[in-house]
Amino acid sequence: DIIKEISGLNVLENELKEKLQIKDVIVVAGDSDQFPWVKKELGRACVKRIKSSLTGNNIVAVNGGTTLADIAEMMTPDPKNKEILFVPGRGGLGEQVENQANTICAKMAERASGNYRLLHVPDVVSNETYQTMINEPSIREVLELIKSSSIVIHGIGDAITMAERRKTAPDDVKKIIDGNAVAEAFGYYFNEDGRVVHKVQTIGLQLEDLANVEHVIAVAGGASKAMAIQAYLKQAHDTLLITDEGAAKELIRG
Ligand code: G3H
Repeated sequence: DIIKEISGLNVLENELKEKLQIKDVIVVAGDSDQFPWVKKELGRACVKRIKSSLTGNNIVAVNGGTTLADIAEMMTPDPKNKEILFVPGRGGLGEQVENQANTICAKMAERASGNYRLLHVPDVVSNETYQTMINEPSIREVLELIKSSSIVIHGIGDAITMAERRKTAPDDVKKIIDGNAVAEAFGYYFNEDGRVVHKVQTIGLQLEDLANVEHVIAVAGGASKAMAIQAYLKQAHDTLLITDEGAAKELIRG
């Protein structure tokens, strides 16, 4: 639109799309490291994109984090009254309640006047528990909804920041550090080449599931996340990135 043209944001979008070799990029003004309201702008842009992607089958899977929490804040009902079912992409991942996928999913549904289902599973599970739980009918049903979602929205974080915030066990922190992880997204930790160096065993959306999802939207801003964004997207070329000017300029420089 006209504002983007005047501010040069569309130039940044094109440069970034080229540099990252991804499907599409949206850049909003500002740097969310400096001003918290920029995250709300990321949210506004994301809500707009969700609405324009709605079709007959509207299952939207949402993950956790502070950025996703702000997207939920910006959600409003769709004037065309399309039915939307929101599902959480993953279990809790050790986040505070307000940053968990379940909480965000319920809030988004409420604001969109849509429906939601929750995933009542513990944050991190042992292998044995995992096998038992995924065969529980109530969990299985939600897992199937997640797998048939047409839109997935997730954040991208700096690896060490996320490991610390989630009070990760020392052995796993070592794995993350030794593996030179720089990025994190829905429980997976990636090195700068976009290779997975550690994965938190939780129930829900897995990295390989994204290949079957029509619209995968990653929302992450702030200059401090530039390296994480670049690393994650090395293995996710079909993703739409919604970011801010702060991260975009750093990514172009880097
Ligand atoms: O899963 C969480 C993301 O990786 C980043 O979280 O939006 O709070 O920075 P954030």
